[in-house]
Amino acid sequence: MSALLTLTDINYQVGEREILKGINLYLKKESNLTIVGPSGSGKSTILKIIARMISPTGGTMMFDGHDALSYDPMTYRRRVSYCFQQPTLFGKTVADNLDFPFEIRNQAVDTKRQQELLTQVNLSTDYLTHDVTELSGGERQRVALIRNLVFIPDILLLDEVTTGLDVDNKEIVHRLVNHYRDRGGTVVWITHDEAEIAAADDRYEVVAGQHKQEAQHA
Ligand SMILES: Nc1ncnc2c1ncn2[C@@H]1O[C@H](COP(=O)(O)OP(=O)(O)OP(=O)(O)O)[C@@H](O)[C@H]1O
Ligand SMILES: [Mg+2]
Repeated sequence: MSALLTLTDINYQVGEREILKGINLYLKKESNLTIVGPSGSGKSTILKIIARMISPTGGTMMFDGHDALSYDPMTYRRRVSYCFQQPTLFGKTVADNLDFPFEIRNQAVDTKRQQELLTQVNLSTDYLTHDVTELSGGERQRVALIRNLVFIPDILLLDEVTTGLDVDNKEIVHRLVNHYRDRGGTVVWITHDEAEIAAADDRYEVVAGQHKQEAQHA
């Protein structure tokens, strides 16, 4: 199958510091890639570049057959959705967060869709009126995740979204991601979780801003 996203010789430099050096990455449609590597190696920086939250200082990035930088930023972000390492919710209630994807598209809020997503992550529908400051860590992460899935993106970028979650919460997140994948979604996630790494099609190891080529097993 053809590439949905390719990074070719991507560099990211801040001042004198080279944070990414010559990153080459190839992502097939409907695949599930994990990015692993030590703290500070550049994993989140790669996802932020893919999400176009920051611009590379060198190299090229192609998305769906075109230069990724040629897309209108709003259009691009709807297709390539980034879930932060630290989930940020805004406004006052859960509904404020789940209304937002409709508002930026000038569409009427579909409450049924919101309720369906809440149910998928084991939150009752009355959570819509809950105050975001009163949610537990696991609940915040689940709300942040479903906010990214109100409209289905082409690529879902998950930055350690299950780190710090208990087994039950992890399980709920895995179910949601599997459901997204069953519908043809493509996932790139940064994780230290052995089960998540094992479940992926492929794994990309980053060491000090560079891709560490995997040893080939016979
Ligand atoms: N804008 C910036 N200016 C200076 N240094 C930066 C900037 N952004 C990232 N870095 C540095 O680049 C390195 C890679 O950061 P990054 O967040 O990508 O690491 P990571 O692999 O995701 O680590 P972790 O596993 O701890 O989340 C870190 O040393 C970080 O401090
Ligand atoms: Mg990180």
